[in-house]
Amino acid sequence: MVDKQNYVHRIFSSISKRYDFLNSLLSLTFDKSWRKFAVSVSGLKPGYRVLDVCTGTGELALAYAKALFYKTCVIGTDFCHEMLTIFKHKLEVKQIENVLIPVEADTLFLPFKDNSFDIVSAAFGIRNVADVQRGIREMTRVVAPGGRVVILEFTQPTNLIFRGVYYLYFTKILPLIGNVISQNQNDAYGYLPNSVMTFPDKNQLKEIMEECGLRDVKVYLKIFGIVAIHVGRKVNLSNHLSFRF
Ligand SMILES: C[S@@+](CC[C@H](N)C(=O)[O-])C[C@H]1O[C@@H](n2cnc3c(N)ncnc32)[C@H](O)[C@@H]1O
Repeated sequence: MVDKQNYVHRIFSSISKRYDFLNSLLSLTFDKSWRKFAVSVSGLKPGYRVLDVCTGTGELALAYAKALFYKTCVIGTDFCHEMLTIFKHKLEVKQIENVLIPVEADTLFLPFKDNSFDIVSAAFGIRNVADVQRGIREMTRVVAPGGRVVILEFTQPTNLIFRGVYYLYFTKILPLIGNVISQNQNDAYGYLPNSVMTFPDKNQLKEIMEECGLRDVKVYLKIFGIVAIHVGRKVNLSNHLSFRF
């Protein structure tokens, strides 16, 4: 587990400066619309307390803030200092340092009390956490009863014909372009398809979320299922108890 943490940390430290550019290039800019969609199904309302873990350069945190016209406070956590530096720079340029708060923190040990947020999310992040189940349990701990956990992640498309073409791009072409442009020595863009292939599929991820205490888990797929957005609700204990008694 420590090995994976260190490896992932090293990868994101080394690609931080080209991360946003390569995300847009390699996803043909679809990444922005996926994050926007995740915000739209998160149940976001004015005044909500929002936490985005594994926030990286802060793109999903920014999407939440933008959806509420920069009137809500969003916290973004990540354990990679270099990724957060890019996030902070964006806030300075946009002069919105008072709306978004980057915090250096490990998703496995979030520095927040239980039930602190209305929405807790992760975009392309939870796959990189050394212990996925523990990460989701920690996200669930800090979301309030009735609040939502939102996970946007790559997944494996089920259509066999599309899958063949897509895997050719994803496992051969994407790593080549990504590693060259990022000038990365750690095969960061080879790690991407490998980590997606070994990550739980959409049904398994749904089950993990349920095991972590989330209910009514909805799964939305994008572009033949290369990306999935899972949204689960933390059980509202008071309703639960009043129902039982
Ligand atoms: C692929 S990037 C995603 C960034 C951003 N959420 C986005 O939508 O582009 C994954 C991020 O997860 C972070 N990460 C991985 N494991 C982590 C952990 N255990 N705690 C905190 N951050 C972690 C990495 O540092 C990296 O910034």
